[in-house]
This record gives sequence, structure tokens and C-alpha cells, in this order.
Amino acid sequence: MSKRFGNRGERKKVNKSEIAKRIEQLKKERNAVIIAHNYQIDEVQDVADFLGDSLQLSQEAAKLEEEVIVFCGVHFMAETAAILSPDKTVLMPDLGAGCPMADMITASELRDWKKQYPGRKVVSYVNTSAEVKAESDICCTSSNAVQVVEAVEGDEILFAPDKNLAAYVARFTKKKIIPWDGYCYVHNNIRLGHVREKKEQLPEAELWVHPECRPEVIDIADKVLSTGKMIKEARITTKADILIGTEAGIIYRMSKENPDKNFFPVKDFAHCSNMKKIDLNKVLASLEDMKYKVEVPLETSQRAKGAIEKMVRL
Ligand code: 13P
Ligand code: SF4
Repeated sequence: MSKRFGNRGERKKVNKSEIAKRIEQLKKERNAVIIAHNYQIDEVQDVADFLGDSLQLSQEAAKLEEEVIVFCGVHFMAETAAILSPDKTVLMPDLGAGCPMADMITASELRDWKKQYPGRKVVSYVNTSAEVKAESDICCTSSNAVQVVEAVEGDEILFAPDKNLAAYVARFTKKKIIPWDGYCYVHNNIRLGHVREKKEQLPEAELWVHPECRPEVIDIADKVLSTGKMIKEARITTKADILIGTEAGIIYRMSKENPDKNFFPVKDFAHCSNMKKIDLNKVLASLEDMKYKVEVPLETSQRAKGAIEKMVRL
């Protein structure tokens, strides 16, 4: 039996470094690994064994050797890990951390949509439920969406659920992209006015935005990058000041890895409340009590896996 830290009230009194030490110990006892998305809060990023964007996290989850994966991100990401690693235990420290964009299309809505467009292949953003992935031909992430659309058969493609990512992909392909009407509220709320104001304050700064941003924001960006590509670019850029048009949690990692450069959010409070639900206490509780298990019914999991694996293989 592992030593417990007591109830949440008691835990709050224990300082963060003690909690982090206890998490390290429990990871060994449980043969567990912590993987976290780039938008997670600072203290969670600090205890993660692996940090990344959606594609990197799916790839990492598929090749991990540990028996237990503690997934710090939103639900569809943990579900993807569970689908790719059916023999492992995937835990999420807070099951309430969902992705509102992923909830904008259900499997039955997708089935009806496919009936309206017979013969068209469906590309689903990885920000979807397992049931939606199971109804899709292939998945994509923000870092490979153009490549996926080009690789899929057909001149007309159904693309769900992000209309902004769909519009971004349409810039690079001759195929007709038929978008679902979904969006990410965090990126969609980054308006041209916010960006212009920041650009006036920092005229020398380069502007990097996520492809989930509105087309008019993308139009004035210097670079359009997934969170993983932003992290890579931050290491190699020679620019001293960069304006970041995505969820603000990523700035912690960029600044930590590149102390000689300055990263500024293009909009104050560009926060995804779901990404902020997990904290150090919840990670500890997750490892102590082996909660909360993320499981996907076998039939859905097998069908969704086909769509994810096609993407990972590209
Ligand atoms: P990335 O794949 O770029 O990390 O994006 C995930 C996400 O949820 C963006 O809002
Ligand atoms: Fe979903 Fe947007 Fe939050 Fe990413 S930032 S998890 S797309 S709501």
C-alpha cells in the first residue's frame, strides 16, 4: 500500500515541492508516466515527463512502455491515448476537462451530414469524441491538417468540426473543403482588434498564431503554427520579441526554455478554462487512487483507432 497524503484539505497545506516529490515516488510505484499538453498550468508542466501538442501526445502515447498514463489535457486527448494503448490504464486527473469545440459535433450529426454528401471522405480534427472519430475516414491535428487533406482520396472533403482550421487548410489545397460550423471559443475570441493593438505596442515583434484563429487574424500573422511547432520555432528564431496568438499557457514553456526571448500573448486572458482544471493536487490524487480511468467501448475504440492510425502513419 502506498503512503497517502490525507484528504484534500490536508494536502493543501503540504507545499508544492513535497507534492511533486510524492508524485515522483508514486510514478515509480505505479509504473506510470505523466504526459501533458502545452496549455497545462505551470506546476503540471513541471511534473510532466512529456509535454507536447495533440499529434506529439498521440504519437508518444502509442509508444510508451509504462503501464499507466496520467493524461493532463482535455478529454479527447486522453481518449485518444486510451484508443492507441488499449492494454494500458489511462487516467485523467479531472474528468470534467472537456473541449467545447469537440462537443460541437456528435456522431449522429456526423452520420446525417455524411448522408447529405454521399461519397465524400471525412477528415476529423483530433478534437472530437471517440464516437465521431469512429465515423470518420481519417483524423488530423493542427500540425498535419493540410498533409492529411492532400492524402485523402477525392476532390471534395468533409472537414469537422473547426471551421477556422478548415478555412486555413483551404488556402493550401485545390480540393473543396466542406466545413462543419464549429470553432474553438479561445481562438475565435482572439479578434483583429486585439492583435492590432498589441502590434502597435510592439511593432518589431513577430506574430505567431494557431490555425484555429479566425481567417482575418491568420492573414496578418508572420507564422501559423501548431503549439508543438511554436515550441520548436521559439528555440530557433532570432527574434527577441514574439506575439503569441494561442492559449496563454504555452508562454510558460516558451519562456522557460528560451529565457533570452520575450513572448507576449496577443490577447490578455486567452485561457481555456478546461485546460486549467488540472492541478498538482489532482495529479497526486489521480496517482494515489488510480482515478479517473478513461475507457472507450471496444467497438468504438477499434473504429476510431483506424482513423487515428491512418493519420499517425502519414
Ligand atoms: P495543438 O495540437 O496545436 O496542441 O492544439 C490543440 C488544441 O486544443 C488547440 O486549441
Ligand atoms: Fe478545445 Fe480550444 Fe480548449 Fe483547445 S483551447 S482544448 S480547442 S476549447
